[in-house]
Amino acid sequence: PLMDIDPKLLKVQRTESPKKLLPAKDLIFGKNFTDHMLTVEWSSKHGWYAPQITPYQNLSLDPATCVFHYAFECFEGLKAYKDKDGVARLFRPDKNMARMNTSAARIALPTFGSEAMVELIKKFVALEERFIPEERGYSLYLRPTMIGTQKTLGVGPPRSALLYMIASPVGPYYPTGFKAVSLSARSDIVRAWPGGCGDKKLGANYAPCIKPQQEAAEQGYQQNLWLFGEEGYVTEVGTMNVFFAWKTPDGKKELITAPLDGTILNGVTRDSILELAREKLTKEGWTISERKFTIGEVAKAADEGRLLEAFGAGTAAVVSPINKINWDGGIHGDARDIHVPLQEGKEAGPLAENFWKWMAERQYGDVESDWSVKV
Ligand code: COI
Repeated sequence: PLMDIDPKLLKVQRTESPKKLLPAKDLIFGKNFTDHMLTVEWSSKHGWYAPQITPYQNLSLDPATCVFHYAFECFEGLKAYKDKDGVARLFRPDKNMARMNTSAARIALPTFGSEAMVELIKKFVALEERFIPEERGYSLYLRPTMIGTQKTLGVGPPRSALLYMIASPVGPYYPTGFKAVSLSARSDIVRAWPGGCGDKKLGANYAPCIKPQQEAAEQGYQQNLWLFGEEGYVTEVGTMNVFFAWKTPDGKKELITAPLDGTILNGVTRDSILELAREKLTKEGWTISERKFTIGEVAKAADEGRLLEAFGAGTAAVVSPINKINWDGGIHGDARDIHVPLQEGKEAGPLAENFWKWMAERQYGDVESDWSVKV
């Protein structure tokens, strides 16, 4: 039988030139990395080899390596936090490893024992603990990645692969705290489709989204709101899941996000917000919905004064409030701006603010929960 990942076989080679820590205020998302990296090689003959922690270094790959030609690549994003006692904590790492396995399987890369990988992540984070910033809103962003490493232009399942993880100390996505973003919603571009792989965290899903984002920026909008179909179903925003809060035509408060129908990434922040909402908002009369809804319904709610809030949800920014959506009007309509309310003098609505607070309390361990895993 093939070998699974075994944390007991881990070999650690420490760096001889530890990096100087940057002051928290100078951290830019994903620009600086820690001293070490975690690597685990795999072959179709052996399975997973002994995991290694080595100094952070370049990879050396043949130009024919299949990752460069056919995009055999998937990744994850999760964060380690320092709690008030200085203890490092991971936030729901089991969810990320489970998702990574579904992503890998979709592109014929090997799967692995999620629990074993969480053990390795803990060991890695313990070694790199000094890189976790203490300040609220700061964390160590972990980037597990898997690539096909077979040297071949033949189109087929990779016979060798590399699972590795690097880590980047990060600050709040927006250094000024919340800063509401404006969106461009177009009918002529599609991020994901039924039967496709938009629900997997594949690098190949991200590169094609940059040009539309540049085009949005040229028009003065920061991100794309991804729609699907002639109906204009709302799916995701930028690289995040998206939530809307509105009053339904019959006056009921509803928090709504798109369902996991295969075109939506199964976000860990999305899942956490849904659980928090069911725990805290249902008793205040909110209905929490995972179902399809359209940009036309959002526009109508705005016109009728029923639109309450909109925000993106993801690991990097956690919660990202939205203040404006430019919609091209669909296949037969006219372009228009949809305005989303914010609180007077603030960059977020009350729900976005509360979700950010409830998430942070659990990420930093102020509120104990089984989402928070001590290293
Ligand atoms: C997110 O956390 O929202 C992401 O999708 C991560 C991004 C840097 C790819």
